[in-house]
Amino acid sequence: MKMNGPAGLRIRLILIFWVAAAGALAQTPSAVGERITPHSVRFFSSQEARAHARPSLCLKEPLPATGPVPGDWAVVPGFGRVQGRPTAAVSIAEGTDLYGTGEVPGPLRRNGTRTVAWNTDAYAWNAGSMSLYQSHPWVLAVRADGTAFGVLADTPQRCLIDLRAGIRFEASGPDFPVIVCEGDSPQDVVRELARLTGTMSLPPRWALGYHQCRYSYTPDSRVREVASQFRKRHIPCDVIWLDIDYMEGFRCFTVNTWDFPDLRDLNDDLRADGFRTVTIIDPGIKREPGYHVFDSGERIDAWVRAAGGAPYVGSVWPGQCVFPDFTRTDVRDWWGGLYGRFLALGVDGIWNDMNEPAVFNVPGKTMPLTNIHRADAALGGTDTHARYHNVYGMLMARATFAGCRTARPERRPFVLTRANHLGGQRWAATWTGDNVATWQHMDMSISGVLNLGLSGQPLAGPDIGGFTGAGSGRLFARWMGIGSLLPFARGHTGKGNIDKEPWAFGPEVEATCRLALQRRYRLLPYLYTLAREASVTGLPMVRPLFFADPADARLRDQDDSFLLGDDLLVVCRTSPDGDPPQTMPRGNWARVSIVPGDLDDPELPSLYLREGAALPLGPLVEFSDEKPLDEVELLVNLDAQGVAAGRLYEDAGDGYGYRSGEYRIMRWKVDRMTRDPRIVGDVEEGNYSQPLPATTVRLVESATR
Ligand code: NOJ
Repeated sequence: MKMNGPAGLRIRLILIFWVAAAGALAQTPSAVGERITPHSVRFFSSQEARAHARPSLCLKEPLPATGPVPGDWAVVPGFGRVQGRPTAAVSIAEGTDLYGTGEVPGPLRRNGTRTVAWNTDAYAWNAGSMSLYQSHPWVLAVRADGTAFGVLADTPQRCLIDLRAGIRFEASGPDFPVIVCEGDSPQDVVRELARLTGTMSLPPRWALGYHQCRYSYTPDSRVREVASQFRKRHIPCDVIWLDIDYMEGFRCFTVNTWDFPDLRDLNDDLRADGFRTVTIIDPGIKREPGYHVFDSGERIDAWVRAAGGAPYVGSVWPGQCVFPDFTRTDVRDWWGGLYGRFLALGVDGIWNDMNEPAVFNVPGKTMPLTNIHRADAALGGTDTHARYHNVYGMLMARATFAGCRTARPERRPFVLTRANHLGGQRWAATWTGDNVATWQHMDMSISGVLNLGLSGQPLAGPDIGGFTGAGSGRLFARWMGIGSLLPFARGHTGKGNIDKEPWAFGPEVEATCRLALQRRYRLLPYLYTLAREASVTGLPMVRPLFFADPADARLRDQDDSFLLGDDLLVVCRTSPDGDPPQTMPRGNWARVSIVPGDLDDPELPSLYLREGAALPLGPLVEFSDEKPLDEVELLVNLDAQGVAAGRLYEDAGDGYGYRSGEYRIMRWKVDRMTRDPRIVGDVEEGNYSQPLPATTVRLVESATR
């Protein structure tokens, strides 16, 4: 917008003043800063960098300056250059612990690590892998006193996050702004990250059930067989997944009618048995005239271009492929439009895979950085793959989400994506890719999911049981015990691998898996309440132990235990015969049983309830919408004053009625002033028309009291 006249002059003068004030603060003499929210400030290396800044690809919306940098602002980055690459660094005081950096292997606490934010097809990744499938140039720093700040490098380019001495970002590409947020606690900072980059949309409730996948269940009789085994064995499960072999020659949006003669019929039968179906859709489109997706894409010249101007061609599952340029609105609309007919086959959710994008047999396993995207002006306009690589998967997921939303406006989309970027939680959940059936990988699945949660992505989980490698029955049982308490719980394994359904390792392992999943299903009302909270505030569903007491230094590196919400502490044994970790947050945490027998199973994590918590448990069901939530058992650990409180969010489980009041938030207060527990349940919010669930109370005795 062009500003002329006295008003324009005034605004220009104010801007110069802000910029100059911030410049005086910065370690870099040329640097400038501006406030963008009450808790966040954005810094640029210079006025020139500010003037030439490219649109942000991670922020929810452009955030114009709202004022100068506050005079007492503590964290100010220093900008520099290494071999021509722009850098930004923040020093940290003794006792500051670092987290976040997205999808990363290794420990929860990231001090001393280096991560390269660069979406990579990281098959069988390991503890030393510097880049996995997603990029989150974001660090959460928790000071010794429990206050916190966050640092966001607002660049989509390949970016080194070096945490060996403070926080340092080094990006390949132009100068980038750095956003710093301040909070009284790590929770405050994570909520602020959500204000900047958005929250996940509320998933359908069934997405919080257990998912069973493999590469691939085929033909349809095998799918039916797996589903019926779940019901026969009374092991809860909501979703069966179809990997690439359901397609005709790996062509997206087609069905291999030899193995799946009637996909609609299969899906209808599964639905009648309480199952949903999620199918995979990759970005690589077979270059084959006559194939409807290729032809319709050709008509709008949809493909990413090679430097020379012709469509880029790379090899993936179907052979020679072209790749939709998801940076363009018309291409995203076209792609979204492809889902209408496809979802009509009774498909419930979509799995976007290989969208780093992965390309076979080429250096770097992706397309050349010189490829050309003809991006929307709002994203920064035409530029090379170097700028758009890290957001390719996110934009694909965005197009998929929008397509599902349009095709079925009355239902909430469920999209899972492998590649993503900071902010991508708005459109898709994620999993930690092709892991390995080892104890170390099981261990890393906890810290990986925690750090994703601290980087804005609440709905994540590993391939339970390991994608590559067989692993033992004991490992599988242990992994199911842990994975069933992570936000996204899906068993999956690779082509040619052994069977990895909950019964595949014999009756003992099956019994553990049944208990693990029964626990999850009794916890579903609580998990759904946490999902709702994450969708509103950005607080992750699983939280590191230090969230219970951010100033307690003992908790900062604990990553074999985690918190599910604020109330449930999950203590895991991550080595075959090792003891469980002993460090717990202060207070009286009471060991609790969720289903009969779970306390006696040594392979399951131990669960502890926070003092003062009243945790709503649902009835034991085998799929999420088996029956309405008509009864709730409140598991109660009274505090020293003899009181406890808990909350429950309910709605129809799908659709958007909740946006116009069709939901309920119940709050219970339990009080033991007399011998009989007194329960008071209040509807805090919403006009949900379903009858209130009948509530019973189970008081648990605190172990340490
Ligand atoms: C790679 C994915 O990471 C994996 O989960 C999937 O099974 C295969 N692609 C085949 O689609």
